[in-house]
Amino acid sequence: MICEIRYEMKNTRNSTKIYVDYNSTAPMEDDHLKAVMAALSEFDGNPSSQHSSGRRAKVALEEARTQVANLIGCRTQEVVFTSGATESNNLVIQGVAGKFWDNLEAVSAHRGGALPHVVVGATEHPSVLELVQVLAERGRIRLSIAPVDQNGVVLSDEILALIGPDTVLVAVMLINNETGAQQPIVALADAVKAKNPLVYFHTDAVQALGKMEISWLPKSKVDSAAFSGHKIGAFKGVGALYLKAGSKVQALTLGGGQERARRPGTENIPGIISFGLRARDLAGDLARVWVERERPAQKAFLAALTRISGTKIHGDPATGIANTVNFHIESVAGDDLLLNLDLAGIAASSGSACSSGVGRPSHVLKAMGYSDWIALNSVRISFGARGGAGEVDRIAEVLEKTVKRVLSPGVG
Ligand SMILES: Cc1ncc(COP(=O)(O)O)c(C=O)c1O
Repeated sequence: MICEIRYEMKNTRNSTKIYVDYNSTAPMEDDHLKAVMAALSEFDGNPSSQHSSGRRAKVALEEARTQVANLIGCRTQEVVFTSGATESNNLVIQGVAGKFWDNLEAVSAHRGGALPHVVVGATEHPSVLELVQVLAERGRIRLSIAPVDQNGVVLSDEILALIGPDTVLVAVMLINNETGAQQPIVALADAVKAKNPLVYFHTDAVQALGKMEISWLPKSKVDSAAFSGHKIGAFKGVGALYLKAGSKVQALTLGGGQERARRPGTENIPGIISFGLRARDLAGDLARVWVERERPAQKAFLAALTRISGTKIHGDPATGIANTVNFHIESVAGDDLLLNLDLAGIAASSGSACSSGVGRPSHVLKAMGYSDWIALNSVRISFGARGGAGEVDRIAEVLEKTVKRVLSPGVG
């Protein structure tokens, strides 16, 4: 039975010829898998063990930490390994707000008895947005959700107007996973701290890692940033939190001293080695791999879409991340487009992967002012190594044929 499943899965993987869903996950390349397997045969101990196998694993753990730190541009000790960006976001948000739930002295000094106030952008990933909504419903925080403009860029003035003496945390993502919109994080963190220096500033930078230069991040006033291994072609289930030296967050898990007690629990050595190796590969290759290759693919695809009538692009791809295009085609269901792309061996996505399948309109597009129908029927193409400029015409051809079939069923 297991063999049958494996056989079927293998065929499914091979039948996808063009992969343009890199914002959802970056497929692992065979060379990378081989490199991780080779490393694991040497470094598979428990890094907390005192014997030589444990010490070797500890060396591998710290080497991976340096590799990830180099890609972020921060110091090695500022990287905390987690199970992914969802956990990194949770660790910061619950860890910062949590200090005010437990420590009454800090509560009265900082917020004069009020609930800790948290401000987030309206287009945050569910690992931020749904979390703060639940915390607010449970009476743990006071929540403000800041609006974005029609391109999905957060309105900085609105955020600043929300900051008060009781504000403890602002979380605004760097690159939106659905539209690729880029937020003015450096200026925003400066302005927020100028208004209230006690506010902690967090950014979800998952979609920026390996795709754009972010070495400015640790030099900015941003206190922490969330990252995910599988978005850069590493194993799933591993991530990192950049935590600026001196930033203090409460751990979510207790019971061990790993990750300097910020994330106790035996480290995911296979995932961490994988993350480190991909970070090492990309650190030396940023400009060539992403900026030079994906921007032309994005431009070529935008040009191809102009030939399909009824197509509307969401946001401003030119000022967003180089690999993403989000659009809808009037009167054509997003599911029809995605199904036909899939049948043609092209993997693309609707909305964010975490909410796709649930059939909810995208909260990102809704926040940008689009209707429920558009927010339910958008398509996201995100280019990467297995789907670039060379594949654009084929993708456009499948879209065009689908549109013809849906809008003029009797023809052809
Ligand atoms: C912007 C953003 N934040 C957070 C996450 C969650 O990352 P992970 O899958 O590592 O938990 C994702 C993944 O879709 C994402 O795109």
